Amino acid sequence: MNLHDREAATFFHTYKRLPLEIDRGEGVFLIGRDGRRYLDMFAGLAVNALGYAHPRVTQAISAQASRYTHLSNYFLQESQIALAELLTRHSGYGRVFFGNSGTEAVEGALKIARKWGAAKGKTDILSLSNSFHGRTMGALSLMDRPKYRDGFGPFLEHCCMVPFNDVATLRTAVNRKTAAVVLEFIQGEGGIRPVSAEFARTLVALRDEMHFLLVADEIQSGVGRTGRFFGFEHYGVKPDLVTLAKPIGGGLPLGAILAGEEIASILQPGMHGTTFGGNPVACAAGAAVIQEIEEKGLIARAARMGEHLMSGLKGLAREFPMIKEVRGYGLMVGAELDRPGDAITDTMREKGILINCTDTTVLRFLPPLIIGEEHVDQTVTTLKGVLASL
Ligand SMILES: Cc1ncc(COP(=O)(O)O)c(C=O)c1O
Repeated sequence: MNLHDREAATFFHTYKRLPLEIDRGEGVFLIGRDGRRYLDMFAGLAVNALGYAHPRVTQAISAQASRYTHLSNYFLQESQIALAELLTRHSGYGRVFFGNSGTEAVEGALKIARKWGAAKGKTDILSLSNSFHGRTMGALSLMDRPKYRDGFGPFLEHCCMVPFNDVATLRTAVNRKTAAVVLEFIQGEGGIRPVSAEFARTLVALRDEMHFLLVADEIQSGVGRTGRFFGFEHYGVKPDLVTLAKPIGGGLPLGAILAGEEIASILQPGMHGTTFGGNPVACAAGAAVIQEIEEKGLIARAARMGEHLMSGLKGLAREFPMIKEVRGYGLMVGAELDRPGDAITDTMREKGILINCTDTTVLRFLPPLIIGEEHVDQTVTTLKGVLASL
């Protein structure tokens, strides 16, 4: 039996799998069991910032695994501390809490917001329509899309939704009961949709007036992908809490919450925790990723390669009206079509390039930060051929 048949016989059927069987990855490429090479332009959904089998990451993993793979959070762990130091240095936030995943980071941020608000009579959490924050009940309470929520309620109380980029509704929705506003400044799963500058400005002005916590979900956009360390830096905003995951574990499961001293001190010993959070191997891998990003100037490279990709895609949009809009920052780029994108991603895959389609009609590009100009050119040229053949 092939892997697909074995999976179909044993798994919950929650994932739509690609018709590929992968043997291994090398840099920006995945190699199938049949030996075929694929240029991976979505990098494990923004996880593999350094691509596959990066020597610095594999070395960090094997060195840590040969010492210990788990101790429990009763123990100080050197690799956790090293990653916390790197994250605090790069982010300007003084404190880190490590969990296991993105959705768990969102849950932790919600708990902090509730606790902070409880002392001030603030109960409400606001979020934006079309968001994606994860699959747990707290995260789902911040989301509105039926495909993620239908049938799973009731959700958390006192969660309200503001339509994406609707400044007028934001002004009326926020009040003295608002404990937090949670958002992706650049929506990922929702179709690479950046909030408008006016929306971000209004949010900050309202925070100054009404005193709520601004929570930025940087799980997809964080750690250099957008050409800045955080996506919200494109707006000149400083949120109170930041959630991170995806690239920070070097391909191993790891999530984090960042905050300043005052907000972090809301959680006192015993109030929050996790058995596996901050796994030492994941932290060692994550530290290797951030050091490499730093030493090789990969954030500036993401900005440069992103511009190159964006200009290539904009060129295609001029030629093919079926591309309605190209948007994003750095290497977090979406091309919105006037039709579903699955047939295009399928044909791209047949031609050896892996791109993803999100929100039904948006071709999504999330390549590793180590991508070269030649890979971007190959992607744009191949896509041109695919669009021309439709
Ligand atoms: C912006 C954002 N928030 C939260 C999540 C959830 O992260 P995880 O799947 O690690 O729980 C994701 C995952 O795609 C995401 O893109």
